[in-house]
Amino acid sequence: MASVASLTRTGRSAVSRNLPARAFTTSLSARSDSLFVHRDTDYNNPDIPFEFDAENLKMAKEIIARYPPQYKKAAVMPILDLGQRQNKGWTSISVMNAVAKLLEMPKMRVYEVATFYTMYNREPVGKYFVQLCTTTPCKLGGCGSDIIQKTIEEKLGVHGGESTKDGKFTYIEVECLGACSNAPMMQINDDFYEDLTPESTVKILDALSKGERPKPGPQSKRYKSENSAGLTTLTGKPYGPGEFCQPEFQ
Ligand code: FES
Repeated sequence: MASVASLTRTGRSAVSRNLPARAFTTSLSARSDSLFVHRDTDYNNPDIPFEFDAENLKMAKEIIARYPPQYKKAAVMPILDLGQRQNKGWTSISVMNAVAKLLEMPKMRVYEVATFYTMYNREPVGKYFVQLCTTTPCKLGGCGSDIIQKTIEEKLGVHGGESTKDGKFTYIEVECLGACSNAPMMQINDDFYEDLTPESTVKILDALSKGERPKPGPQSKRYKSENSAGLTTLTGKPYGPGEFCQPEFQ
């Protein structure tokens, strides 16, 4: 039987058809999905203690209270997020184990969630986690994400999935982040930066390096996702009742 790696999308063996085996995806792996199987390391093993601090524990209890007591495991995603935030932006095995203990659920169930969703980073990330959207609208919108990607890589001296030497920035490419009308865009920690140009991208990264927080949202002059050409519709007096029919229909 052919190995998984030698099967094409159709399930036919590439070897049997004398074709080179091709990977299912050519995208770069994200920090969060770079490791599906946990291997103990000196910085990520179950002996490293992790406990929710008092503030997060209080918040976790509030979240758990939103669910019926027999379904407290339904809170696994927001509680994992809390753990990740407390653990400097990444979800170690100790974080997952602490979540399992708090929600009284099997550890494996927590591992399954944390390995499925890319929002959980299972490797350490920098202080600023830069996620550049490279899906089609961002690829085509404005100056295009290819140019922004080049700008980030040159400015930070890293490629997708890498961190800067000083540990300040981690940069990855991601799929659509839901701000397509303001393409191209990137998310840094919890902030969206939109309508990017190479100049505004450099400005944002420079400001973060200095410890400042650049203003999130569109970096162009427009307000949110309003038309940059200004108002082009609904500019006249609204129709009155019965006035909307065109003469030919009356
Ligand atoms: S395609 Fe980039 S935000 Fe949707």
